[in-house]
Amino acid sequence: MGTVEEVRVSGQLSRAKLSKLIGVKTNRLLSATIIPMTIISNCTASVIKDAALALKEGHLVAFPTETVYGLGADATNAKAVARIYEVKGRPTDHPLIVHISSLELLDKWAREIPEYAIKLARAFWPGPMTLVLNKTDLAQDFITGNQDTVAIRVPSHVVSNKLIKEFENLGGFGVAAPSANRFGRVSPTNADAVSQEMVKFLSPDDLIIDGGNCSVGIESTIINCTQDLPAILRPGAITPNLINDLLETNIGIHNADNKLSQIKTSGMLSTHYAPKAKVILSSEPEEGDGYIALLEHLTPPGVIRLASPRNEIEFAQVLYNSLRLADEKNLSKVFVNSPLGDGIATAIRDRLTKASTN
Ligand code: TXA
Ligand code: MG
Repeated sequence: MGTVEEVRVSGQLSRAKLSKLIGVKTNRLLSATIIPMTIISNCTASVIKDAALALKEGHLVAFPTETVYGLGADATNAKAVARIYEVKGRPTDHPLIVHISSLELLDKWAREIPEYAIKLARAFWPGPMTLVLNKTDLAQDFITGNQDTVAIRVPSHVVSNKLIKEFENLGGFGVAAPSANRFGRVSPTNADAVSQEMVKFLSPDDLIIDGGNCSVGIESTIINCTQDLPAILRPGAITPNLINDLLETNIGIHNADNKLSQIKTSGMLSTHYAPKAKVILSSEPEEGDGYIALLEHLTPPGVIRLASPRNEIEFAQVLYNSLRLADEKNLSKVFVNSPLGDGIATAIRDRLTKASTN
């Protein structure tokens, strides 16, 4: 991985030289920023432009968002999107989220947008929220999994935002991006995790942009906006309380009105987000087991502590990397003492329940 100095010069280097410099042979890991935010605007404009061009040419670009890293492709290019499915090993009827740079571009992809969806977008975009809306013809079957709806998100991470804008400047309409992990596995929250997960499957013209650790750490809240009331399909950092305060509604997770069975959401399969180690939701690990719990919980003797976050926000930030660490350490079991509460803890418990089901 490059240092800040290397990043500063990276914009002047050819891609081949840059990949040599940072020592990745099978794919290129572009170091957009080691210290997030501060470096990006003065040093990497040309690196990001280069990545946008790669997307436009039909290559895959893994990039940071505030939630998790995405594996991006031109959302209107059938061949490029087919490679996402191939690289992820994901069934082709599972739809993808299209990432755009701002609410103003929403009506290119979606129609019959309800007033409440606009309110949500104005309040929480750019940010960790995805809206499912009735689609326009721009959203083809290879994006929607043959459904009449399309999922749209405006991410807030400075690198994703810039990348998508540059892509739009080149005539692109949106970047399709699932989490940059193999199907069913743990989403990556840093570039190393993307690289470990994808290095065998990406080709030399694909890119990975390093934008540091993701600040949220779990995937966006997905909200179905095709009915009279919004319905949460996947919990995330935008919680029911935030939504209800804004819209003066009283929705919960998996609202009763929601025709869940008709909507294909891969994160809603019973097993998902799973490491190789068996995930056990309990606070009683034994010697040799991995353990993830809030700092206030002690580590029993002989137990391998994988993370001690101070609160639920930190819990979300470190969770996926801690699960990866369990695999790196070849642990067979990882015990997780899930945080209580109705903030992002709800989403943490949702992911852990899925990770523990097999
Ligand atoms: O935070 C995120 O949402 C990350 C970052 C990269 O943006 N992306 C992400 O994508 O988590 P993915 O593909 O791993 O999960 C997206 C979920 C899938 O479960 C998919 O089935 C669902 O969104 N989805 C996509 N389009 C949909 C649609 N039209 N209706 C219902 N669910 C949809
Ligand atoms: Mg995913």
